[in-house]
Amino acid sequence: SLQLNDSGRYTVQGMEPVLKSVVTFSILSPTEPISNVILRSNATDLVELNDTAIFTCSVSSGTSLSYRWLNGSSEVTASDRVRLAGGNSTLTIVCVTRYDEGPFRCEVINGISNGTSQPIGLNVRCEYQTDVTSSEVAMTGHIVTFKCSASSQPPSQFSWFFNGSHVAAGSVYETGPLTLASHGEYTCVAFNNVTGRNSTISKMLTVVGESWSNLNPLIEYFEDDSFTMTCNIVGDPSSIHWWKNRTSVHLDNRTHVSFDNRTLAFNPVQHSDYGEYQCMARNSVSNRTSTRCTLLVNYGPKQPVIAGAPIAETEQRVTFNCSASSQPPSQFCWFFNGSQVATGSVYETGPLTLASHGEYTCVAFNNVTGRNSTVSKMLTVVGKSDYRFFALLC
Ligand SMILES: *[C@@H]1O[C@H](CO)[C@@H](O)[C@H](O)[C@H]1NC(C)=O
Ligand SMILES: *[C@@H]1O[C@H](CO)[C@@H](O)[C@H](O)[C@H]1NC(C)=O
Ligand SMILES: *[C@@H]1O[C@H](CO)[C@@H](O)[C@H](O)[C@H]1NC(C)=O
Ligand SMILES: *[C@@H]1O[C@H](CO)[C@@H](O)[C@H](O)[C@H]1NC(C)=O
Ligand SMILES: *[C@@H]1O[C@H](CO)[C@@H](O)[C@H](O)[C@H]1NC(C)=O
Ligand SMILES: *[C@@H]1O[C@H](CO)[C@@H](O)[C@H](O)[C@H]1NC(C)=O
Ligand SMILES: *[C@@H]1O[C@H](CO)[C@@H](O)[C@H](O)[C@H]1NC(C)=O
Ligand SMILES: *[C@@H]1O[C@H](CO)[C@@H](O)[C@H](O)[C@H]1NC(C)=O
Ligand SMILES: *[C@@H]1O[C@H](CO)[C@@H](O)[C@H](O)[C@H]1NC(C)=O
Ligand SMILES: *[C@@H]1O[C@H](CO)[C@@H](O)[C@H](O)[C@H]1NC(C)=O
Ligand SMILES: *[C@@H]1O[C@H](CO)[C@@H](O)[C@H](O)[C@H]1NC(C)=O
Ligand SMILES: *[C@@H]1O[C@H](CO)[C@@H](O)[C@H](O)[C@H]1NC(C)=O
Repeated sequence: SLQLNDSGRYTVQGMEPVLKSVVTFSILSPTEPISNVILRSNATDLVELNDTAIFTCSVSSGTSLSYRWLNGSSEVTASDRVRLAGGNSTLTIVCVTRYDEGPFRCEVINGISNGTSQPIGLNVRCEYQTDVTSSEVAMTGHIVTFKCSASSQPPSQFSWFFNGSHVAAGSVYETGPLTLASHGEYTCVAFNNVTGRNSTISKMLTVVGESWSNLNPLIEYFEDDSFTMTCNIVGDPSSIHWWKNRTSVHLDNRTHVSFDNRTLAFNPVQHSDYGEYQCMARNSVSNRTSTRCTLLVNYGPKQPVIAGAPIAETEQRVTFNCSASSQPPSQFCWFFNGSQVATGSVYETGPLTLASHGEYTCVAFNNVTGRNSTVSKMLTVVGKSDYRFFALLC
């Protein structure tokens, strides 16, 4: 009845003839059943990507063992990060991730029995990209809500800073009604109190006035001077456009914009520039149009014109109408033979006499530009009788 300790070296020795022989017996044990599978890990609180998890599987008794590793219900296989060693009795996971939380078990099998360890879970602390969502541009009076998120384990605690000063705690920060002073950098600090790590993200908020530009409602200018209009914009528009009477301003060799379109220059300004101007600023999220500016160009009077009959009979009345292109409209004076006879654009003669024959002069005067301009017209007066006689002759 061989026992395991009967294994060993046996020697036979003879005297006649002299002989000696050695034989080694190995008493093979039957496979021992497995009992008490124990799983150990050298640490269970790990920091993602920084730490290595090491599991060791052992049994109290059992022989001819083979090992299988389970993560939850799926079998663990070797890979770059996952190594099996010691005849598969140790499992090493380098650079643990949050997907390595387990629970892990080891299963031990031999020909006659099997056993499975208690599970061990890992606690993998991690921090990921912190993000802030909100609009980038907002108008005064509006309220902007910033939301900060950070995927981390345990959840992060959040603090908010505006231009470097602490303003609030919590993942959501709501500004009050915005003023132009609310323009600036908003920072969320996500703090993971277990890893002791902070992650910070900032967002620029551009605050623009309700009206991006207030142009003067009325600008009066003198023709032939140069003149510049400016679009006053808070913030940083990506483009600015100028409108005249609701269509794009036509740029020519008198009309220029600066490189960023903030100013529109007229050199010289002309009375054809009269109109309603607006600037429109646009960025990726919005566009705003300024108030309207009426550009009024004072000029003239240009050469006046007299309308009316050049020839008339005695006793008739003649009406002369003087007009001149001018801003503001001109005032008019009438002169006949060097004496003032009337004011106003319309001059009606009295009943004509032969003495009414002569040169009538209209002076147009612009009391804003201080200029005047003169035109004359010859009136030929013929006697009624002369006219009949003339008719008789015919
Ligand atoms: C676990 O084992 C690894 C590798 O030997 C070692 O770097 C690490 O410090 C150990 N962790 C603990 C908590 O003992
Ligand atoms: C993780 O590792 C990085 C560098 O490898 C180190 O800077 C950081 O402090 C480590 N974090 C922890 C919590 O150990
Ligand atoms: C370790 O396990 C792998 C399967 O994961 C197997 O192919 C290999 O033969 C095992 N090695 C030992 C020594 O049991
Ligand atoms: C483990 O042993 C049980 C009986 O004790 C058996 O029903 C089961 O199939 C075995 N499992 C494996 C994987 O051999
Ligand atoms: C860490 O923060 C969590 C909430 O995120 C809190 O429940 C826990 O008490 C904090 N732990 C410490 C040590 O401050
Ligand atoms: C992380 O932020 C918290 C709260 O703002 C602060 O108290 C702590 O000092 C910061 N820690 C580090 C390491 O920056
Ligand atoms: C300036 O205005 C012109 C014409 O309206 C336009 O084509 C151009 O894109 C504008 N540039 C900028 C910087 O706003
Ligand atoms: C501007 O252009 C007009 C024609 O559009 C031309 O008559 C004038 O001479 C130009 N003036 C200058 C300063 O180039
Ligand atoms: C622009 O509008 C004004 C009236 O607001 C008008 O008198 C002027 O003729 C217009 N100019 C053009 C070029 O259409
Ligand atoms: C300006 O923005 C409004 C919406 O706010 C949009 O309907 C309009 O088309 C935009 N205009 C231009 C010229 O981009
Ligand atoms: C210019 O004349 C207008 C009438 O055409 C008058 O209403 C205005 O007061 C005058 N302005 C000056 C400065 O004289
Ligand atoms: C017209 O202008 C000239 C010079 O500019 C001035 O001498 C004259 O008195 C003016 N006439 C009137 C009617 O205003």
